[in-house]
Amino acid sequence: MKRIGMLTSGGDCQALNAAMRGVVKTMVNATEEVEIYGFLDGYKGLIYGNFRMLTGADFSGILTKGGTILGSSRTPFKLMREPDANGLDKVEAMKQNYYKLQLDCLVILGGNGTHKTANLLREEGLNVVTLPKTIDNDLWGTDMTFGFQSAVDIATDVIDCIHTTASSHGRVFIVEIMGHKVGWLTLNAGMAGGADIILIPEIPYDIDKVVEAINERNRKGSRFTILAVAEGAISKEDAALSKKDYKKKLETSPYPSVSYEVAARIQEKTGSEVRVTVPGHMQRGGSPCPYDRVFASRLGSEAAKLILSGEYGFMVGIRNREIIKVPLEDVAGKLKMVSPDATIIQEAKMLGISFGD
Ligand code: F6P
Repeated sequence: MKRIGMLTSGGDCQALNAAMRGVVKTMVNATEEVEIYGFLDGYKGLIYGNFRMLTGADFSGILTKGGTILGSSRTPFKLMREPDANGLDKVEAMKQNYYKLQLDCLVILGGNGTHKTANLLREEGLNVVTLPKTIDNDLWGTDMTFGFQSAVDIATDVIDCIHTTASSHGRVFIVEIMGHKVGWLTLNAGMAGGADIILIPEIPYDIDKVVEAINERNRKGSRFTILAVAEGAISKEDAALSKKDYKKKLETSPYPSVSYEVAARIQEKTGSEVRVTVPGHMQRGGSPCPYDRVFASRLGSEAAKLILSGEYGFMVGIRNREIIKVPLEDVAGKLKMVSPDATIIQEAKMLGISFGD
């Protein structure tokens, strides 16, 4: 008999259900003896003992379903060691619920913050296997996270739609793409959608270089310019500020997000009409794309294999197209960022894309 606790934590993404289905289908096919405890709304469910007992049937018909059947929430890692409003020790509560239910293992699906807590639980002696989800693709130790390709598809569709209207009106358009800390999504959707300028957090931009790129396009006869701008794009001046000063700047900024600031600067300096489109959480919504369905199913299946053989303390990921297991302590607390020297950046530049640097 295997008793599995499962939870999805942090911002949701496509293919969470596909991944959980992959775990459960594989377990159920391998052994009839499986009990599944689905903790609701992420770590909150584990802390407060809020769970549903699930069977294989609960995981049927959810391969294509977006969101997560377990619900999710953000429970910041830095608050895990702080007691809740009623003085409850959250880590102790999670451990107690784990032991009370006599779980063999926790299957935790999440991104960066989630992995820090998963590793903490491992350090506390719990058996944990994790799966890498996030549209940001910023988890260290895996070439890809599920959700990412689906989000690239959606963000690319947005840029495609903007392309036709931008060309009719001869305007400058900014599409703001999710990713506060890393630019994988913006870079990939930007390239796939044929954006002329891509601004990502890892490559601070110089607004004059951005304007130069727009003017150059105009000189060559283009009527419009499309910018793909990550939520966390940052100017060279702002990147030189201390974290504290930058935070203060954002708090007092008259702009709702960086794209609006970039838009205002471009308008000031070029006189062009600039429009901003923010697809926001749409990028995390809807059905997973076929790649993510297959990928998440494979990860789920391999996670089940680990559980069946009693190998714990790993994230299941992919490297060079091979499914791999990575020790949790190697993953926790590390971000996989876009290197400004990466070949993809050089190739994008050779294609004529400006990064404003
Ligand atoms: O989950 C990742 C992500 O979608 C980021 O791309 C984005 O910056 C952030 O979450 C948005 O968070 P929230 O859903 O809490 O607004």
